[in-house]
Amino acid sequence: MKHFTISDLKAWDRFKRANFVNSLSGFRPVSLIASINEMGVSNLGVFSNIVHLGADPALIAFINRPREAAPHTIQNIEVRGKYTINHIHPAFVEKAHQCSAKYPDGVNEFHEVGLTPDYKDDFNIPYVAESMVQMGMELSEIIPMQNGTFLVVGSLVHAYVNEAALGGDGFINLAKTSSMVSLGLDAYYEVNPFQRFTYAKPDKESGIIPF
Ligand SMILES: Cc1cc2nc3c(=O)[nH]c(=O)nc-3n(C[C@H](O)[C@H](O)[C@H](O)COP(=O)(O)O)c2cc1C
Repeated sequence: MKHFTISDLKAWDRFKRANFVNSLSGFRPVSLIASINEMGVSNLGVFSNIVHLGADPALIAFINRPREAAPHTIQNIEVRGKYTINHIHPAFVEKAHQCSAKYPDGVNEFHEVGLTPDYKDDFNIPYVAESMVQMGMELSEIIPMQNGTFLVVGSLVHAYVNEAALGGDGFINLAKTSSMVSLGLDAYYEVNPFQRFTYAKPDKESGIIPF
């Protein structure tokens, strides 16, 4: 295997370093986060640093880059206290990726890229109609990190899931919705199911759960 030290990485240009470090931690879920600014204009951004913090209360967090790099989503969430997270699928991944472009404030990315806003439940923030897994989130807290990024923690208040992916035990088989994952700064992958295992115990071999 090739060995790198942090000094090696520091000698690279920033895009190469970002791609390398970003890839090292592995594949990540990738979604479109929809929000609305104070003038009522919708915004979409691509976010892949999304993490489940706990199921009860149901908390999901994401990392927002420093404000200079990604100003709109975090600002809109601060103003409205609400946003939606929408899985990305191959059928619209090019349009989704285009939402990572730095459009000026007040540009509605739904219109720019040709995705459909879907308002429901009086939530007042659009979901992405083309997405088969949609979450309605309320802001819980924003934690500034030492490197200038922000951990934005949200409480789940609505979940819409395509029925084909739903298992009776609560498991959501996201391979059935072709929910994409991402790697590095710009790569999107589809996933294949491999295996589900029973709850692991120290004195027992795990069994297999069929998909
Ligand atoms: C694959 C991919 C993953 C991304 N993940 C993140 C992320 O986790 N956090 C972030 O702040 N920006 C991320 N971005 C960049 C944002 O999509 C981009 O800055 C976008 O314009 C959002 O900015 P806005 O909130 O100002 O609209 C990602 C971009 C791509 C292409």
